[in-house]
Amino acid sequence: MASNRKLLILPGDGIGPEVMGTVRKVIDWMDRRRAVSFDVDEDLVGGAAIDKHGAPVTDATVDKAMNCDAVLLGAVGGPKWDDLPFERKPERGLLRLRKDLGLYANLRPAICFDALVEASTLKPEIVAGLDIMIIRELTGGVYFGEPRGIETLPNGERRGVNTQVYTTSEIRRVAAVAFDLARKRSNRVCSVEKANVMESGVLWREEVTKLHGEQFSDVELSHMYADNCAMQLVRAPKQFDVIVTDNLFGDMLSDAAAMLTGSLGMLPSASLGDVDESGRRKSLYEPVHGSAPDIAGQGKANPLATLLSYAMSLRYTFDLPEDADLIEQAVNNVLAKGLRTPDIMASGMAAVSTATMTDALIQELDKMAA
Ligand SMILES: NC(=O)c1ccc[n+]([C@@H]2O[C@H](COP(=O)([O-])OP(=O)(O)OC[C@H]3O[C@@H](n4cnc5c(N)ncnc54)[C@H](O)[C@@H]3O)[C@@H](O)[C@H]2O)c1
Repeated sequence: MASNRKLLILPGDGIGPEVMGTVRKVIDWMDRRRAVSFDVDEDLVGGAAIDKHGAPVTDATVDKAMNCDAVLLGAVGGPKWDDLPFERKPERGLLRLRKDLGLYANLRPAICFDALVEASTLKPEIVAGLDIMIIRELTGGVYFGEPRGIETLPNGERRGVNTQVYTTSEIRRVAAVAFDLARKRSNRVCSVEKANVMESGVLWREEVTKLHGEQFSDVELSHMYADNCAMQLVRAPKQFDVIVTDNLFGDMLSDAAAMLTGSLGMLPSASLGDVDESGRRKSLYEPVHGSAPDIAGQGKANPLATLLSYAMSLRYTFDLPEDADLIEQAVNNVLAKGLRTPDIMASGMAAVSTATMTDALIQELDKMAA
């Protein structure tokens, strides 16, 4: 069936094509059983693109990415391409896509599935039912600020410099993403900085507050210092809904939050950019994990992070929250039945392959849709 939902799939390398196979089957299921169809295009990125075209992503692929509603990416990289010069490595393909699409907001949800509560290092009552979203500013701040470098001082000592810098527009656009997303969730945003010791933090707080007053006063807004936020994330993470923060603090807080929920094979992510003239917001969805060359081709890959990334695209790009809920519920149900790929295996559970996990997901979806 023709559709105006355009999805570009870039499976990439290693386990990328394997985990994307699961998503393909769920997309087919959605078409069959939910009458939700996509125009799906597929292309190469990373090592696969280097092998075919000599570059980690071609201009034509970037063009397709610019002209679809959402890109869904598997993973890139592997030992075969490790010795290439930096500019030609598989990872450059992903970096170019992020840059050309102008993806400045990185979304990292931390969801604790009931069946995996015991896999967290925190007490079950702290993480059970957890569903929070960390939004990290991705293209500004101290990782990009100038001046930067290492210099030798007249007295022979060396000095390393990086600069934390944010402008009004950089803060407002990422905060707007956070407020927008909160409206699709529990309608609460916590903005995180260090306004007590950093001028860039003072500006961050002022600009977020101003934007809130102008356009998003229906959303509940609070502010927190980053060090306290780190503490609160492990003390009582369920107090949060959406956290929005800068590049550096977001890097750390999103990794800490990810581990509240257990395994790398379970973690989805999204990166969002601006809304263009046609009303489309540029977006790329991908699992947090890499191409796992150590298990590639062995049927051991956990496809759930990639499937959950696809579910995020349904929620945040395609405005299909019920279908996103359905997929997340199917994931929870197969886990509750005790099915585990090797990376999340626990005693008393059944170790299954990627293919068996996929079949079980489809069966679960069939059951729920019946
Ligand atoms: N976004 C990306 O495409 C991305 C991210 C990280 C690493 N990489 C690349 O991936 C390659 C491998 O990197 P790495 O080993 O540091 O990280 P990795 O995430 O690929 O793997 C780390 C460990 O986790 C396991 N693992 C990861 N995903 C899994 C899944 N879905 N199911 C089961 N087990 C899983 C792997 O088997 C491995 O033991 C490198 O070339 C690296 O540059 C790519």
